[in-house]
Amino acid sequence: MMILVQTCLTCASFISLISAKFSPIFFMRNTQIIVSALAIACVAVVTTAVTLDAQAAEKPKYSMEDIMKKGLKGDDSLLKKVTEDRATDEEKKLLVGYFQALTQHEPSKGDAASWKAKTGALLAATQKVVKGDKAALAQLKEASNCKACHNVHKGDKK
Ligand code: HEC
Repeated sequence: MMILVQTCLTCASFISLISAKFSPIFFMRNTQIIVSALAIACVAVVTTAVTLDAQAAEKPKYSMEDIMKKGLKGDDSLLKKVTEDRATDEEKKLLVGYFQALTQHEPSKGDAASWKAKTGALLAATQKVVKGDKAALAQLKEASNCKACHNVHKGDKK
């Protein structure tokens, strides 16, 4: 969003710069050409900005390593705290944030559809549990099964 606003401002100052540079007569004679050239240039710039903006939005907020090591691994992981009902509100929020980011990561192995289903289920179950839905605990246990996911999606990169 910021990129977009900045681009529009840049476009606007560019136009005023151009109008200042040429005499009014030049402008009157060539208005149509100038306006269409500027319009084309601005559309190109804005399109690029929108694409960049969309890519920026999809970049995961947390690294895979943080999500796995702080979110999932061990007896003091956020997941354990949440499932054992001893997580603070901050910790609950962070775990949901981790799993949101996980859905945006690309796994080192396995296909995208399976990854989307697994991480989506994990995020949905976590969101329910942190809202106090005890019935969703079983869903969360299943969705957070380390091996079930690692077997399909964890490559031997590390
Ligand atoms: C939804 C899928 C999924 C679930 C569930 C999952 N993992 Fe992972 N985990 C992965 C993937 C994929 C990797 C490989 C990381 C990469 O590709 O960079 C990984 C890597 C790891 C790593 C190595 C991280 C690093 O970069 O050093 C640890 C540790 C780990 N997982 C622990 C766990 C534990 C413990 C659990 C269960 C409580 C768990 N994971 C559940 C997908 C999952």
